[in-house]
Amino acid sequence: MNQDIKEILLTEEQIAGKVKELGALLSDEYRDKNPLVICVLKGAVIFMADLLRHMDIPCEMDFMAVSSYGSGMESSGMVKILKDLDASVEGRHVLVVEDIMDSGLTLSRLMELLRHRRAATVKVVTLLNKPERRKVNISPDYSGFTIPDEFVVGYGLDYAEKYRNLPFIGVLKPEVYSS
Ligand code: PRP
Ligand code: MN
Ligand code: MG
Repeated sequence: MNQDIKEILLTEEQIAGKVKELGALLSDEYRDKNPLVICVLKGAVIFMADLLRHMDIPCEMDFMAVSSYGSGMESSGMVKILKDLDASVEGRHVLVVEDIMDSGLTLSRLMELLRHRRAATVKVVTLLNKPERRKVNISPDYSGFTIPDEFVVGYGLDYAEKYRNLPFIGVLKPEVYSS
């Protein structure tokens, strides 16, 4: 698995430091708001689990599965809801947790839907932001790292469902996806 990685972009320590910082910031922002924190499966699951343990405020969690990439490298532009929320978002302060904002299509569709369902507020925290790839006019409310346009895996991010369990974020060797 590690032999498929060209370079480590963000180490475990760098990620942990940033997640702690975001957790503290979001705790201040959402104190007394009992936010509904939504994990966008599957990529955001590792970040969500770590982030929530740095949020020392009352909050609830829920999960949504949407897919735009399938097993390929590029967003298809179609955002399919594979699993919907259990709870209603009406009147709630919703915080969407994502691993990466790339074209922005997944999050723009999702936020549109949550606003349509009358959430009181909808904001997004993404660990990684790749603004160079944006196809729609959207930017994250909170972001961990802005990264260059390289295909990254690890800490929840996959290529063809693999590498999500790497504890760091690395750049995949091109020969892995061109073969
Ligand atoms: C990836 C990633 C984000 C989205 C970002 O998810 O986890 O959710 O793509 O891309 P975008 O900004 O271009 O829409 P993916 O659809 O691969 O599903 P996964 O989380 O299950 O890997
Ligand atoms: Mn995802
Ligand atoms: Mg994926």
